[in-house]
Amino acid sequence: MNLLIQRKAKQLKVGVLASGRGSNLQALIGAVKTGTPAVKLVGVASDKAEAEALRRAEKAGLPARAFPPAFFGSRREQERALEFWFEELEADLLVLAGYMRILSEDFIRGVGCPIINIHPALLPAFPGLHPQRRALEAGVRYSGCTVHFVDAGMDTGPIILQQTVPVYEADTEESLSERILREEHLLLPEAVRLIAAGKVRQEGRRVRIERDA
Ligand code: GRF
Repeated sequence: MNLLIQRKAKQLKVGVLASGRGSNLQALIGAVKTGTPAVKLVGVASDKAEAEALRRAEKAGLPARAFPPAFFGSRREQERALEFWFEELEADLLVLAGYMRILSEDFIRGVGCPIINIHPALLPAFPGLHPQRRALEAGVRYSGCTVHFVDAGMDTGPIILQQTVPVYEADTEESLSERILREEHLLLPEAVRLIAAGKVRQEGRRVRIERDA
């Protein structure tokens, strides 16, 4: 599949899915407010009604809605509700910012727009849970974060951007996570900015980025 992701109108409408703290969402909100006029955040959905991310969205005046799986008959129904909501909001791009559920192939195909995810490791190393802890245990000297397109696998989609950070011998899971998180807060808005500018092209597994002039 060759895919040039481009905004259809003046602004790229971006929907966000988040399960928890929402610091990456906050970084996006900040970046859009201060310097990414080509992006419009249209709504934030969560699988957890108590997610701080939803509170942050409300505070920023964004539509925020919980889709707790227990309220739906099946995973498919929960995903269909998400699909309808983002369709209503006319999202051109979905961003997973700490969304802790795997999306089904049906959803990924059905939602009709690209989906990107931020992961706190240098993929394809350490996909899945606790990547910072596993990076420490593996003794790597560098880790970092990755923004990638979402496919039906666990953190397996085509890589858009990566940023490295050093791993120090004195690091704990917390200190490494914090160092990576600081970079996540820059990398995710940058990926969204590049997509909104029509500079990101997916060619099979490879993503090509047209550099700013
Ligand atoms: C981040 O480390 C992100 O990479 C991972 O989950 C964490 C979410 O943090 N997928 P926050 O909710 O954005 O603060």
